[in-house]
Amino acid sequence: MSQFDDNENISINPSRAEHFNQLVDRVVSRRGILKSGLGLGAVAFLGGNLAACSSDGGTEPVAPVPPQAPMLNFKQVSVGSGDAIVVPEGYVAETFVPWGTPLVKGAPAWKPDGSNTGADQALQMGDNHDGMHYFPISGTNSSEGLLVMNHEYINPEYFFAYEPGQTDVFGTWTLDKVRKAQHAHGVSVVHIKKDAAGKWQLVVGSAYNRRIHGNTPMLMTGTAAGHALLKTSADPFGSYAFGTLNNCGNGYTPWGSYITCEENFNGYFGTTVSGASQTALMKRYGLSSGRSGYRWEDFDNRFDWAKEPNESNRFGWIVEIDPFDPTSTPKKRTALGRFKHENAAYAIAADGRVVVYMGDDQAGEFVYKFVSEGKYDAANPTAPANRNLLESGKLYVARFSDGATKGDSMGTGEWLLLDKEANPSLKTDATLPDQASVLINARQAGTVAGATPMDRPEWVSVHPTTKEVYLTLTNNSGRSTTDDANPRTSNVYGQIIRWRETGGDAAALTFEWDHFVLAGNPSATPLKSAGSSNINAGNTFNSPDGLAFDHDGRLWIQTDGSAANTGNYAGQGNNQMLVADPKTREIRRFLVGPSGCEITGITFTPDMKTLFINVQHPGELGSHPNRPTIPTGTSADVYTLQNPLVFSKWPDANGGRPRSATVIITKADGGKIGS
Ligand code: FEO
Ligand code: CA
Ligand code: CA
Repeated sequence: MSQFDDNENISINPSRAEHFNQLVDRVVSRRGILKSGLGLGAVAFLGGNLAACSSDGGTEPVAPVPPQAPMLNFKQVSVGSGDAIVVPEGYVAETFVPWGTPLVKGAPAWKPDGSNTGADQALQMGDNHDGMHYFPISGTNSSEGLLVMNHEYINPEYFFAYEPGQTDVFGTWTLDKVRKAQHAHGVSVVHIKKDAAGKWQLVVGSAYNRRIHGNTPMLMTGTAAGHALLKTSADPFGSYAFGTLNNCGNGYTPWGSYITCEENFNGYFGTTVSGASQTALMKRYGLSSGRSGYRWEDFDNRFDWAKEPNESNRFGWIVEIDPFDPTSTPKKRTALGRFKHENAAYAIAADGRVVVYMGDDQAGEFVYKFVSEGKYDAANPTAPANRNLLESGKLYVARFSDGATKGDSMGTGEWLLLDKEANPSLKTDATLPDQASVLINARQAGTVAGATPMDRPEWVSVHPTTKEVYLTLTNNSGRSTTDDANPRTSNVYGQIIRWRETGGDAAALTFEWDHFVLAGNPSATPLKSAGSSNINAGNTFNSPDGLAFDHDGRLWIQTDGSAANTGNYAGQGNNQMLVADPKTREIRRFLVGPSGCEITGITFTPDMKTLFINVQHPGELGSHPNRPTIPTGTSADVYTLQNPLVFSKWPDANGGRPRSATVIITKADGGKIGS
């Protein structure tokens, strides 16, 4: 793609880029005016120093707040294209539970030659670690807990490589290899505890340790459960699903459950039947018209859409798991809609209902929120009624409008109800005959309702005190038309947008939004887009993806973008993690990852002294200055198979292959992260 194809936008012309910097600054200034008392409940959304405000967002005088320690009290690390984890001075990073680590009782050791079986893999850590949450074993215990994490997918070139006799990635393809791949997906519940030396250890043999994978029985719940579109030959009731796949970002609830989000499920479905035609539903969700890249359909009819046309409808959901009960059945929550779920972030509405914010990660797809029917009982967090709050409620999709002024990086928005009877547009739409169809084909429902196509919605996070909602829009290089929320054509850098619900109520039907940052690159030559004024040559990055507030209100930003370090991406190095101060909008780089990885998954112990992140797919052959030249006629997969450790040796080169792993980050002096 040309670097010059967006000449009607801000990106190329430096003066236009400066224009945007000023706009974003003006938005912040205007928010300052709101803070002084002009805005609705807007005051409730602004910085943590307003904690003394009345709970209804009133404007009475605020007690003086003592000066706080700096939010970003560390020295920024430089960009890098190396093959290691880089953290700031005074911090320590250790790898933990890489793919294949024996987890469940009876699990065999990981075999570096790749000869573990499908049954072995069902007891070992999965691959491609992603979203993750630390649950204290009780109370606020910061020395023992359950670390629950997703395993999004596998890289066949590393996953199957170097087995005895293997000459091609799929050269000795068998049913057991399909099973092994399915078992490397899903979720791990990992019981961890600090030893006497203060070092985190896996609690070997713990009954909490659990693998949930691509064949684990699950319950379909909510309005769509039992619908004809969910019935298959293995489940004529449409009530029981088998497995969870492409578990990307995550969420958690105040009642102690883990939420795993099914993203690119379409990639597992293909067909061996020539001439078979797809339904409109299959096409909208991107199923391959021929063979799939994972080739499970070769041995497992469940993944052949011509043979099991409804199986794919049983993926693309939010799944709720009780990590404290190893015998519990995971629940697919159809009330929250079916799309390529990135992550899920909750808030409690003014009347006690639970709100869950969610993004659909595809260029031109939408942002959603779910509002529960029941109310959260804060006095009894684990009460049975709380544990079923995701069973029923209302699903909304977002429309981001330009607001009073066009081109000012801020605007207004509405939540559009995706209800077959209550939404007049849906009521008359014959392609969505009932509410279950609306939930199963939420993308189409969003289109019919008039939602705003966004620049690939990724993670959402809610500020712990202001309840302002932040969302990463990772990039959208194919964008050809703009609106204020998605202001750049050929958007290669991405942005973070944030909104304030009217009246400070998470269940409100309208909101105000602005951009927190437009990522860009002032070092690129020629300049494509400098980004907003909180981007500079020192902290430049592209493709924000993972996003999370810590307990103190810092905003952590993880990237999954180009590591080319040239052209549009010059001076940006490998994928990385940055931290932002929501009040000042300052952003600093905290960590750089090894070659070919993305940085994802983030969680903290309650005492903020341990930070857990995940390094996913090190060695993946994307754009990178150290990427080897692959001979013409050789696929990247085969080249990787034939050239062990060609691109990344992280973390230990064991088995001649890089491996996804968790990274535990602490301060050398034992202090709080970021302090
Ligand atoms: Fe699995 Fe959108 O990242
Ligand atoms: Ca506007
Ligand atoms: Ca992601």
